[in-house]
Amino acid sequence: MSKQAICHSSEITVGKHKVFTVGRHSFGVFKVDEGYYALKNLCPHQGMSLCEGAGVFDQIEGEVTADRKLREYVAAEKNLVACPWHGIEFDIRTGQCLFRQDWKVKTYEVTVDADGNLQVDLPD
Ligand code: FES
Repeated sequence: MSKQAICHSSEITVGKHKVFTVGRHSFGVFKVDEGYYALKNLCPHQGMSLCEGAGVFDQIEGEVTADRKLREYVAAEKNLVACPWHGIEFDIRTGQCLFRQDWKVKTYEVTVDADGNLQVDLPD
């Protein structure tokens, strides 16, 4: 693991995020009330970019029907991100999928240095 400086903390405000690529790693950095969180930019559903991308939300409507709805929680809870491809939701802080308990997105630790710069701890 190595800490990589990505930007100044003032560039990502509460409720916002940015996508970064460092070497072979693509990830989104999110700011929620209590801190900064980084998620791997790879959705476990079909391998699309979880943290960016155009919406094709209707593609799997028939697949996600049982008890859950696409984008069911993201409007009501501030710590969730919905994949822009099909709307499956994940907890930004843990990477846990709300639709399937066996899906979890890799998370990376984010720290703020003395100058206010964000650093993400990435695998070598
Ligand atoms: S690729 Fe993310 S919900 Fe389908």
